[in-house]
Amino acid sequence: MICLGIESTAHTFGAGIVTDSGKILANIKDIYVPKKGGIHPREAAEHHTQACGTVLQDALTTAKIKLSDINLVTFSQGPGLPPCLRIGAVFARTLGLRLGIPIIGVNHCVAHIEIGNLTTGLSDPVTLYVSGGNTQVIAFTEGRYRIFGETLDNGIGNILDQFARAAGLPHPGGPKIEQLAQKGSYIILPYVVKGMDLSFGGILSEAVRKFVAGEKIENICYSLQENCFAMLTEVVERAVAHTDKTEVLLTGGVAANKRLQEMLRIMCAERGVKFAVVPAEFAGDNGAMIAWTGLLAYKAGQRQTIANTQIRPKWRTDEVDVAWKV
Ligand code: ATP
Ligand code: FE2
Repeated sequence: MICLGIESTAHTFGAGIVTDSGKILANIKDIYVPKKGGIHPREAAEHHTQACGTVLQDALTTAKIKLSDINLVTFSQGPGLPPCLRIGAVFARTLGLRLGIPIIGVNHCVAHIEIGNLTTGLSDPVTLYVSGGNTQVIAFTEGRYRIFGETLDNGIGNILDQFARAAGLPHPGGPKIEQLAQKGSYIILPYVVKGMDLSFGGILSEAVRKFVAGEKIENICYSLQENCFAMLTEVVERAVAHTDKTEVLLTGGVAANKRLQEMLRIMCAERGVKFAVVPAEFAGDNGAMIAWTGLLAYKAGQRQTIANTQIRPKWRTDEVDVAWKV
């Protein structure tokens, strides 16, 4: 069985082609980069409309298959920005109807975990999913992926990007901040963990305030990373202790950060827990993760009618029936 996965929740329009044995035949993406400022949902949707045909064609060419070889079409049904989600949903419905094949809507956050398991060989981890828009600590218990901790305001990637913008650094801010941090030393910033949840807004305000007051940017970048990543590591550690899981998975665009990886690796080594980072190609938003998760659902018996494919912009991770894991 060959499955096509369409991703379009935010910046990325992606098409992935995966077989039911977990072989990834293609994973093509085209990312909308705003000319200035943050993501504008309608402009991102316009980008996806322009990009979808070429991305699909590239994926078919890479996988060396024809459109008619596809047996299942899957798409990101949510959570995400409604105008962006709509493009992916319409594209997937059109393909499904034209090819006369089944369609499955996939939860984007769950897909990040499942592609992580496929590409790292872990099976039941505590997952730290850190991207622009999302920051969640997730583990599977009692039939569902449960959120053990999450941000109370913005995603960590978003916070890094916002600081970068305020300091005149290029977008995306994460990689540039990581680079500057290597030459910095610690200054005091807030550290905000509330129970198992995190809040980054106050840290961002203070970092910007210190920048405006003339503090060295290297020091702010270093301290921003140290505090935010230590907060994340603390919550992951408590989730591991609470669930008794023996694996930790790091995914999302921010997973590329070496300092965050190092903190988690040390914590896991101290607890005797396995640690894996999802390869960069599959850590950011991509179509292969949607294809693979859709396949898992389909093979577990999930079926969906076209009428059931409305987008779900606020679809929470813990609302998903994970039939394939029970
Ligand atoms: P989602 O829809 O899941 O929220 P997204 O559209 O934000 O995803 P991703 O590719 O998952 O996209 O993540 C992008 C984020 O990753 C940006 O905020 C960027 O600054 C951050 N990032 C990328 N590389 C690094 C790095 N080396 N260190 C820290 N952050 C990074
Ligand atoms: Fe994502």
